[in-house]
Amino acid sequence: MKIIDTISELENQLQGYRHKGETIGLVPTMGALHQGHASLVERCVADNKISIVSLFVNPTQFNNKEDLKHYPRTPEKDHELLERLGVDYVFSPSVEEMYPEEDQRVFDFGQLDKVMEGEFRPGHFNGVAQIVSKLFDIVKPDNAYFGEKDFQQLAIVKDMVRQLQMPVNIIGMPIVRESSGLAMSSRNQRLSEEQKKNASDVYKVLNESKLMIDKFIPYELINYVSESINKVSGLKVEYFQIVDGDNLQPVTSWSDSDYIVGCIALFCGEVRLIDNIRYK
Ligand code: PAJ
Repeated sequence: MKIIDTISELENQLQGYRHKGETIGLVPTMGALHQGHASLVERCVADNKISIVSLFVNPTQFNNKEDLKHYPRTPEKDHELLERLGVDYVFSPSVEEMYPEEDQRVFDFGQLDKVMEGEFRPGHFNGVAQIVSKLFDIVKPDNAYFGEKDFQQLAIVKDMVRQLQMPVNIIGMPIVRESSGLAMSSRNQRLSEEQKKNASDVYKVLNESKLMIDKFIPYELINYVSESINKVSGLKVEYFQIVDGDNLQPVTSWSDSDYIVGCIALFCGEVRLIDNIRYK
C-alpha cells in the first residue's frame, strides 16, 4: 500500500492502470476509520482491480469551526486498517493541496439540499460536492462507495454526478451499527460510555417506530419518535423527518411513495449524530 499526499503523484500512479483498462474504485473518507468505513473499503477492494481510499478532513463542509477543530484524527491506525484490508493507495493530501485557492463553485441541488442536513448545516453539501467532485476529477474512479448512514449525502453525490455527467458508478452501502444498535460514526469517539448507551436508544426507538406505521400517519410518528428520544437523558432531537427516499421531500401519507425513509439528527451532549431507518 502506498501513501500519497500530492495530486500529481497520484495521477502519475493511476495513469498506467487506466491505459490498461483496469477498474479503479474510490472510497472518500475523513479518516478516524471504523467498521462502517471498513465495509465500504472491503466492497471496493472486492469489486475493483485498484482501490484508493482518501483520508481528508474537508474544511469546506464544516459549517461549525468547533466541529472541525474537534474532528478526530487517527492516521496511523487508519493506515494499519487499510493495509490489512488490501487497499492499494491512500490519498491524504493537505488542505493547501486540495484548495490552493478558495473554491468558489456553488452547486444547485434544487430541493435536495433545502431539507434536513441542508437546512440545519448551511453550506455543508456545497462543501461535500466541492471535495467529492475534485476527488472524482483526480482519481476518475469507475466506482465510488458511500454509506447510507449519510443518506442525504448519498442523494446529493448521485445528483452531482448526474449534473456533471461524470462517468462513475455511485454505490450505496448499508449502515453498520455497534451491537447496541448505535450507528458507527467517527464522532462516537467523543462520547462517554454512558452517552453511548443513551445514544443507542435512538435505534431502538427508530426500530420500534417501524412497527407502528399501520397505526400512525407520518406526522404522528414524527412526534412519537421525537418525543421518545427527547425523553432519553442527554439526547436532544434537532429534526426527525419522514421523506421520500428519492427526492428527500417530506411525505404526509404512507401511500405517497414506495420508498420512504425516516432521517434523524440529534445532539448527545455536544456531539451531533445522524441516523436513518427505512420504512418502505
Ligand atoms: P466520513 O464521515 O468519513 O464517511 C466516509 C464514508 O463512510 C461516507 O460515505 C459515510 O456515509 C460512510 N459511513 C460512515 N459511517 C458509516 C456507517 N456506520 N455505516 C456505513 N457507512 C458509513 O462522509 C464523509 O466522510 C465526507 O462527507 C466525505 C464524503 C468523505 C467528503 O468529505
